[in-house]
Amino acid sequence: MSVVRTLLLLPLGLLALQASLCHAACVEVDSDTEAVVDRGFKLGCIYCKMRGEVQATAWVDWWFKAKDDVEYTKIYTYENQKWKVLDWRFQGRLYWNGSKNTADLLDGSIYIVNMTYNDTGIYNCSFYRKLTFSNSNFEFESHIIKNITINVVPGTTRGMASILSEVMMYVTIIGLQFWLVVEMVYCYRKIAAAGEEALRESAAEYLAIASESKDNCAGVQVAE
Ligand SMILES: *[C@@H]1O[C@H](CO)[C@@H](O)[C@H](O)[C@H]1NC(C)=O
Ligand SMILES: *[C@@H]1O[C@H](CO)[C@@H](O)[C@H](O)[C@H]1NC(C)=O
Ligand SMILES: *[C@@H]1O[C@H](CO)[C@@H](O)[C@H](O)[C@H]1NC(C)=O
Repeated sequence: MSVVRTLLLLPLGLLALQASLCHAACVEVDSDTEAVVDRGFKLGCIYCKMRGEVQATAWVDWWFKAKDDVEYTKIYTYENQKWKVLDWRFQGRLYWNGSKNTADLLDGSIYIVNMTYNDTGIYNCSFYRKLTFSNSNFEFESHIIKNITINVVPGTTRGMASILSEVMMYVTIIGLQFWLVVEMVYCYRKIAAAGEEALRESAAEYLAIASESKDNCAGVQVAE
């Protein structure tokens, strides 16, 4: 079954590879907004650099306003490959999912494990960037804020029907391929047998003709 799965996933894998090969271009993908309770969730925040060639440093703050909160609270900060979780509600549950091993960040995403209904609310990604033009000592700072409204929904437990239909799909695929192989072997044998039969027949025919002509020849010889 895993072989079939691998074969089915191969084209997807190739696509993913292709995507990763040309990831040089930055795209500001919007974050997902629906989290499932008890699962991990990635809060996406990408801020592309318009001047890719210019040296830059960037830092990111995340703020959070729960459903019943009046104000935003700073929950996380990341700068120069150092980070800090600033709110007890996210202590030990919040991880960096952004650009790694660089101070020149493009991706400021974070990851929260074990989402609870209390994590419902508005998250605020505050992304700062400082461009440094080396030849002129000129510095330019830019800042964006992205609001992400997160809804935490109950886990979707997979129904029996869904599991059953997946199993049936694999059974069907394997069954069809097996049937195809059996059919091919059967046809091959049949053709081979028919070929042999034809060969035998033509050989017999040849022998018959040969013996006949021998007789004829004998007749001729006799007549001579
Ligand atoms: C997340 O939930 C799992 C399963 O309930 C638990 O084992 C794990 O300790 C939890 N992790 C955190 C950081 O709460
Ligand atoms: C995001 O962080 C989590 C927790 O550290 C990790 O399990 C996951 O693989 C990370 N995902 C990416 C895309 O970096
Ligand atoms: C959610 O918040 C309520 C009220 O502050 C608290 O009583 C409850 O324990 C929290 N639940 C979780 C899973 O953190």
